[in-house]
This record gives sequence, structure tokens and C-alpha cells, in this order.
Amino acid sequence: MVRKRTSMHGQWSSRWAFILAATGSAVGLGNIWKFPYIAGENGGGAFVLVYLICIAIIGIPIMMAEIMIGRRGRQSPVNTMYNLGIESGSTSHWKWLGWLGVVAGFLILSYYSVIAGWALNYVLETASGTFTAMNAEAVSSTFGSFVGNPMALLFWHTLFMMLTMFVVARGVSGGLEKAVRFLMPGLFIILLIMVGYALNTDEFSRGLSFLFEPNFDNLLYKHQPGGEFILNTSGEKIFTLEYVLIAMGHAFFTLSLGMGAIMIYGSYLPNRVSIAKTSFIIAGADTLVALLAGMAIFPIVFANNLDPGKGPGLIFETLPLAFGHMPGGVFFGTLFFVLLVFAAWSSSISLIEPAVAWLVENKGVQRVRASVIMGFACWLVGLLTVFSFNIWEKVYPLNFWKFKNKTFFDVLDYLTANIMLPLGGLAIAVFSVWIMSRGSSADELEMPENASAYNLWYYMTRYATPIAVLVVFGNLVGLIDF
Ligand code: PFF
Repeated sequence: MVRKRTSMHGQWSSRWAFILAATGSAVGLGNIWKFPYIAGENGGGAFVLVYLICIAIIGIPIMMAEIMIGRRGRQSPVNTMYNLGIESGSTSHWKWLGWLGVVAGFLILSYYSVIAGWALNYVLETASGTFTAMNAEAVSSTFGSFVGNPMALLFWHTLFMMLTMFVVARGVSGGLEKAVRFLMPGLFIILLIMVGYALNTDEFSRGLSFLFEPNFDNLLYKHQPGGEFILNTSGEKIFTLEYVLIAMGHAFFTLSLGMGAIMIYGSYLPNRVSIAKTSFIIAGADTLVALLAGMAIFPIVFANNLDPGKGPGLIFETLPLAFGHMPGGVFFGTLFFVLLVFAAWSSSISLIEPAVAWLVENKGVQRVRASVIMGFACWLVGLLTVFSFNIWEKVYPLNFWKFKNKTFFDVLDYLTANIMLPLGGLAIAVFSVWIMSRGSSADELEMPENASAYNLWYYMTRYATPIAVLVVFGNLVGLIDF
């Protein structure tokens, strides 16, 4: 049996430290900003249902696989995949999977930081009472003029990137661990307060049914964002799995899977911690936060006759309305955006950690320098997103296939969440059950090979997960047409 490795970057101080950090990575803009707006654009209930199924049959098995691989390798994803590839009698080319993740994380952070910058700006705006007693139109136009101003976006993007690099530079337990300990519970409580507020709007039940009552036509046939069906020349609705892909991509995105973030966090996980249990806790907490965010937002959307398919501005155009009208709104609003920034912060550090750890391991660069180098490069790429909302609003860089009419931001988002992460996740699943031996994975998962829990994981990861991903991809590239 292989001797257990240790990580040169340090280790989490306990199981809970890992759970908090991994939950910190999982819970972020994906839950509170992205989930509501893509659910709104892609048909509500049916979309949410598919997303939940994907979490269960793809997300949890892959999360276990990623943590397991990470802890087995105890290095940056690139080196871990390189070593385990050789150790399993396959090839060192598995390192390319690590690289795919490094690039994906890097690209995601470039736009993630811009959106987190919006939240930073909203801390200031809510604290200064901008939204007090404002109506829906004014809240929307405040948002519109903010994102229309490239200098403002640039400023907040820069600030957020600096915050991220500051924590990454301090390393695993010094920086990452301390930050998340109080923030996650805080975020949870404020979301509950927001749901409580939504409960008192007239449209709570309409919000709930939008979120939880599946209407499969909205999911399976082409439509305008949040609206009318698109018909073919003979006037029929057009079948597509594209929205299913978005739900699946989001399951990866929201759980931070498919790019090595959870793998590298797993590499700092002490031995003798149950990977299965921790995965359930992380996925459960993440899902709960997303559903709470949806339950807080959609009632406000309907109570104010807003469009659920508004797109990326959705939470910035709905929640301030609520804060502007509720007692103590300035306080709760400020607190909400502060916590959102923290949630984004604890995710962003995991997006860049694989790249930084690689620089430290392979190039002998000191952690602080490595963070500055990566942070700067990522900041530069972020400019593409900064300008996507204003001066390049009509620039469509890759105007073909699924990238038609997509701005730089849209392209980066689609490419990473819907293609790179599912592809990375698929490869991780394949590696963990088709390449690694049962002996190694059972040993690292700390389950007996004949245990039913182990076999459930094994067969799900071996068949269900890859088939689900392949079917959706197959439809995307036109190989599978139903
Ligand atoms: N899971 C994060 C969110 O939902 O906001 C985003 C994310 C973090 C995606 C880390 C991928 C990742 F590796």
C-alpha cells in the first residue's frame, strides 16, 4: 500500500476547518447571484429540479472523487494528477486534467471578481441609503448606470482582486481558515431574515411555485430568456437539452467541482476524516443557501412585476427594492451585501489556489510572489468582463455556435461553467473509478471495498455520472438528437 503523503502547503486544523473552507468555496456568487438569475431565465421549477438531480447524481459522487484524489496526491491538481496517473499504472498525461482546472479557475475568477466588485459597490450604496423608498424603476436605472460606467467597475474589480490575493498570499490555515469561520453562519442567518421578509409580500406563494413547480415545456423547448417559445418554420416548438446543460453546468459551478478547487482543498485534509459525510454536508449547505436565495428573491420579483428572466442584474435590481422598503433596511441591506462579498471572497481564493500552489511547487516561487503574479494576470483578463457591460456591450468575440451574440462575459461564463467544468468533472469521475484501483479509492475514502456505501459511490461514478454528462454533451454537439 502507498505511504500516505503530506502537503507542503500545510493542513486544515480539523475536519470542521475543512468543511467550512470547502463550504466557503462552494457557497458564493453562484448561489446568490447566479442561481436565481439562471433559474429565472430557464424556466423556474423544472430547471431547479434538474439542478437538484444533478447535485445528487453527479455533484456528490464527483465531490467525493475530487476530495479523495486530492488527499491521495497531496499536491496541486497538476502534480497530483501527474503522480496518481503514474501510480495507477496509466500515464503522466493526466496532468493535463490538472491544467484544464487551472485554466478554468483562472478564467472564472477573472469575471467572478468583477461581479463581486458589484457587490462591494452595493455595500456602499445601501449603507449610504441610496435605495431608501426607491421604486423598481429607479433601482433598475441605478444598476444600469453603475454597470454602464467602466471606471466604476474597474475600481471595484481591482479592489476585490486585491482582497483575494491578500488572503491567498497568507496561505492555507493563516488566511483561508480564519475568514470563513464566522461568515458562513452569518450569511445563513441574514438569508433567513430575507426569506422572512419575502414571506410577508403578497406574492410569496407565486415565488415558491415559480421555483418549485416544474413546467417541463419551459425547460425542454427553446424560448426567449424567461419568456416566449421560439418556433421552427412549421410553427412547432424546438426541443433542446441546452437548458439541462446549464442546470448541470451550474451544479458543477456551485459545488466548485471539475476544476481542482475541491481537489486542492482535499489535499490539505487530515487523514481519517470521512470524505462521504463531509461531501454530504457541503453539498447540503450549498443547496440550502441557493434555495433560500431563490425563496427570498422571486416573491420580490413578482410582487413588483419584475421580469424573472432579467439576467445577471437580477439580485441587484430586486433585493435593494426590499431593503429600501423594510424597517432597518439600511442595516440589513448593508449586512447582506457585506456577507455576499465575504461569500464571494471565500470562493475566489479557491479559484486561484490551484494555480498559485503549482507556481510554488514547480517554479519555486514564494507564495506571496506567486499570488501577486497570478492575481495580476487574472485582473488583466477581468478587463474583458468589465467592458462587456458597457463599451463592449455589443462586441461578440466568438460569434458562432453556442457563442452567438455573446459578450466576452457571456462567453467566459458559458465556456467555463457549461463546458470546462463538466468536462473536467467527467474526466475526474473516469479517473477515479476506471483508472485508480478499487483498493486505492476505498482506502482513501476509508470504506471497506465490499461496503454498500462504497459500491454505491463506485457504480454511480462509474456509470451514472459519465452517462449523464455524455448525454447532455452529446446533445449539445449535435451527436444525440431525440
Ligand atoms: N462555487 C462558487 C460559487 O458558487 O460561487 C464558484 C466557484 C468556486 C466555482 C470555485 C468553481 C470553483 F472552483
